[in-house]
Amino acid sequence: MQRYIVTGGARLEGSVDVSGAKNAALPILAASLLSDKTCVISNVPILSDTRTMLEVLKRLGVEVNFENNRCTINSVNLKPAKVDEELMRKMRASSLVLGPLLSRLGHVRMSYPGGCSIGSRPIDLHLKGLRKMGARIEERHGYLEAKANKLKGTEIYLDFPSVGATENIMMAAVLAEGTTIIRNAAREPEIIDLQNFLNSMGAKIEGAGSGVIVITGVNGFVSAEHRVIPDRIEAATLMIGAAITKGNVLIKDAVYNHLEPVIAKLQEAGLEIIQEKEGIRVIGKEKIYPIDVKTLPYPGFPTDVQPQIMALLALADGTSIVTENVFDGRFKHVNELRRMGANIQVEGRVAIIKGTSRLTGAIVEATDLRAGAALVLAGLAAEGVTVVEEIEHIERGYEGLEVKLATLGAQIKKE
Ligand code: UD1
Repeated sequence: MQRYIVTGGARLEGSVDVSGAKNAALPILAASLLSDKTCVISNVPILSDTRTMLEVLKRLGVEVNFENNRCTINSVNLKPAKVDEELMRKMRASSLVLGPLLSRLGHVRMSYPGGCSIGSRPIDLHLKGLRKMGARIEERHGYLEAKANKLKGTEIYLDFPSVGATENIMMAAVLAEGTTIIRNAAREPEIIDLQNFLNSMGAKIEGAGSGVIVITGVNGFVSAEHRVIPDRIEAATLMIGAAITKGNVLIKDAVYNHLEPVIAKLQEAGLEIIQEKEGIRVIGKEKIYPIDVKTLPYPGFPTDVQPQIMALLALADGTSIVTENVFDGRFKHVNELRRMGANIQVEGRVAIIKGTSRLTGAIVEATDLRAGAALVLAGLAAEGVTVVEEIEHIERGYEGLEVKLATLGAQIKKE
């Protein structure tokens, strides 16, 4: 098991590049299953999650070449599909192959994705949408089997704007007969990126980024090339790194409008944020103001930045309130932050954070991806040495986090 050793106190300074977005790359890699033509996808982050998705594809007979953040994928020899159970358990986003496989092959068998450390994550909305399009789905003994001769366009209202359900339905609908309309669709920038990739393959989709997405079925695709958008969650993590160390960092390639919900809150906390030609500059200040944060689907504040902003607020000058509205169990980082001296109380979905003037280094555990990032950030600001264990969770979603932070002057090493 590897771990990060972080010695706190160094200000982050300089500039850093943002990698391609994990949460855009995963559905786009899954979408390449739809086509029998070659897809070239660049700016794919090198992460254990993207490698897992590529492994899922390979075991389905797909030819994959992944070099220097560039993936060439050809699914012409796609085999009748049973998705590998172990890979399914390893990464919930493996369920994103359901829509494309059902649409292309008319038959999929996969294990039902299990629980997750950030809360229950059912896929009922994915299945409800696919059933409405005519899929017959049986769920038994932890497995699900989906069949459809030809999916049919229809209107689907999502009870909650689920990112994964929106993506799975979009991917299923591109080869369906007729028009599919998704109402109360997720509006995340990653959904727009998926639309752009699918359209570059020859799909007909409009409306991604709004609550209504209209997909007109087509019969086939052309070869496509696509560059994945920059990772807004990684960018936000680095921005908070600048804030918590009172540093001055230019985050290159970060897209300002994708980050507006985070920028608004960081400005309220007293940071100076400047939109520059190359990216976003964050200038940390001596005093961190307490703020209230409520996570919501985009364009609300992202749940994937909730742990990191909590690390910052642990050092604010007063009491902050963080409400987690998206996942039901996403406060695992609280206990670990407490070990470092943070004063945080949790009641249900609400965390009350009484700012303290200093955190101290401790041995802590990355319980999940973003919780792990929050602990690294806390370690950057803490007095003494913080050991972050179980960093394989962090490496699921951050490409060389320790290298990027070290380039900015952080005292961090992996061992
Ligand atoms: C995606 C992101 C994840 C992010 C999340 C919310 C990827 C690969 N992952 O996850 O990083 O934290 O969006 O922004 O893009 N739900 C249901 N039934 C369903 C589907 C979802 O009840 O069928 C619930 C979930 O339990 C959760 C909420 O809806 O409480 C949000 O989930 P969803 O938007 O689907 O997140 P994911 O696509 O899993």
